[in-house]
Amino acid sequence: MLKSSDGKSSYNSLLPIYPLLAQQCVDDYRLDSGICLDIGTGNGYVGTEIAKITNMSIYFIDIEAGALDFARSTVTDANIDNEVFFLEADVCTGLPLSDNYADFIISRGSIWFWEDKARGLAEIYRVLKVGGTALIGGGLGRYVPATMRARLSGERKNTLEKKGGTRLSLEEIETLAVEAGIPSFKVMYDAPGDKGRWIEIQKHV
Ligand SMILES: C[S@@+](CC[C@H](N)C(=O)[O-])C[C@H]1O[C@@H](n2cnc3c(N)ncnc32)[C@H](O)[C@@H]1O
Repeated sequence: MLKSSDGKSSYNSLLPIYPLLAQQCVDDYRLDSGICLDIGTGNGYVGTEIAKITNMSIYFIDIEAGALDFARSTVTDANIDNEVFFLEADVCTGLPLSDNYADFIISRGSIWFWEDKARGLAEIYRVLKVGGTALIGGGLGRYVPATMRARLSGERKNTLEKKGGTRLSLEEIETLAVEAGIPSFKVMYDAPGDKGRWIEIQKHV
C-alpha cells in the first residue's frame, strides 16, 4: 500500500519535510533522550529522523504489518544506533504499553484514518508520561520554506480524500480532545492559510 507499482514510495516528494519536522519537534520540546512513539508510522520516516538527532528509543507503531516492514527497512538504511521497536497495533483499540510510558509521541497523517478518533486520542493521553508532549495531526511542519510548501501543497491536493481519510477542522479536533477527557491541549495550523493542522497535548498530572 505504501509503495507504488514501480516499488518506490509514494512519499518520495515529501522526503525533505521529515528532517524538518523532526528538528521542529526537537527544538519545540527539547527532545534528547527517553521514549518516543511514532504512531501510524507508515514508512517510518518521522521516527527515523527523530532518531538521527536524538538519543531517544523509538517505537514505530502501525496498524498495518506492511507499513512496519517498510519502517524496518527505513531504519536499517538509516544506520542509526538508537534502540528501536516495531509494534503492530491499533491506537483506537489499545496500545500494548503501560500508562505514563512515553516522553514524546508524534503521529503525522494518521488521525484522519482512525475509526474512533476520540478513543485514539484518549489512548495517546494514557501512555503519555506526566511532563511529556504529544503532537498529532498532519501537515508539512512549520520549518518548511514557503516555496516548498507552495509546491507540495499544489502537488498533493486532495491526496488525503483520495486515500479515504477525513481532514478535521480545528474545532472538530478540539471537540474530540474534550470528548477524550484531555485537560490540557492546543490546536493549531502549520502556517496561516495552510491545510496542515495539529493538536499538541501536554500531560501535567
Ligand atoms: C498517511 S500514512 C502516514 C505515515 C507517516 N506517519 C508519515 O507521515 O509519512 C497513515 C498511517 O497510519 C496508519 N494507521 C491508520 N489507522 C491507524 C490506527 N488506528 N492505528 C495505528 N496506525 C494507523 C496507516 O496504516 C498508515 O501507515
